[in-house]
Amino acid sequence: MTSQRKRTAILISGRGSNMRALIEAARVPAFPAEIALVLSNRPDAAGLAFAKENGIACAAVDHKIYAGREEFERSMQVLLDLHRIEIICLAGFMRMLTPWFIGQWQGALINIHPALLPAYRGLDTHRRALDDGVKIHGCTAHFVVPAMDEGPIIAQAAVAVLDSDTPETLAARVLAQEHVIYPAALERLAAGRLQVQGNRVFCEDGSGALPAPLRVPAAS
Ligand code: GRF
Repeated sequence: MTSQRKRTAILISGRGSNMRALIEAARVPAFPAEIALVLSNRPDAAGLAFAKENGIACAAVDHKIYAGREEFERSMQVLLDLHRIEIICLAGFMRMLTPWFIGQWQGALINIHPALLPAYRGLDTHRRALDDGVKIHGCTAHFVVPAMDEGPIIAQAAVAVLDSDTPETLAARVLAQEHVIYPAALERLAAGRLQVQGNRVFCEDGSGALPAPLRVPAAS
């Protein structure tokens, strides 16, 4: 039987913990996506070593050696084509992508963002959330469109903000939820269970948000 699993690439720039969560999820034979390629724009990205140790094709496409964004992206595109990639997951990929590249991958390019979009687009989301005094924070898996941190939302998870939180402790609890919702979002996309209508994403089984652990953990 030929495999119907969707050949998926993960683009990273750093430690790659979301990449790892996706790789772990895709180890299950029934998972509808296989991780066929990991690309990093930074040759020193820690995540590359994990991909390599796990026998996944990986490469660094160093953005610094290219004259412009589109030249850099065309190099990535060559590798994506070579590996017959069907879906791309951005996982801590710290380069803005051009409308040209995003257009090539419309409906097949997703991202994980460490905030409950549309709140806190951009960087430094956890500190900004604490500065604003919000009581609920979280993460979002979404389709990528040419505007930064916009695009139809596939899944979100919320965490309660604790009085004792620092940006670091809050980031750690949000990250744990990223590792839950991002594989779940990829699973739904790869299985062809998502339908996009305008900004809304509908899933065949009717489940919009994913488990939101809003319970405040007991003090230790
Ligand atoms: C994550 O918080 C993700 O939401 C954001 O960048 C961070 C990447 O972390 N886009 P990692 O490299 O996946 O550990």
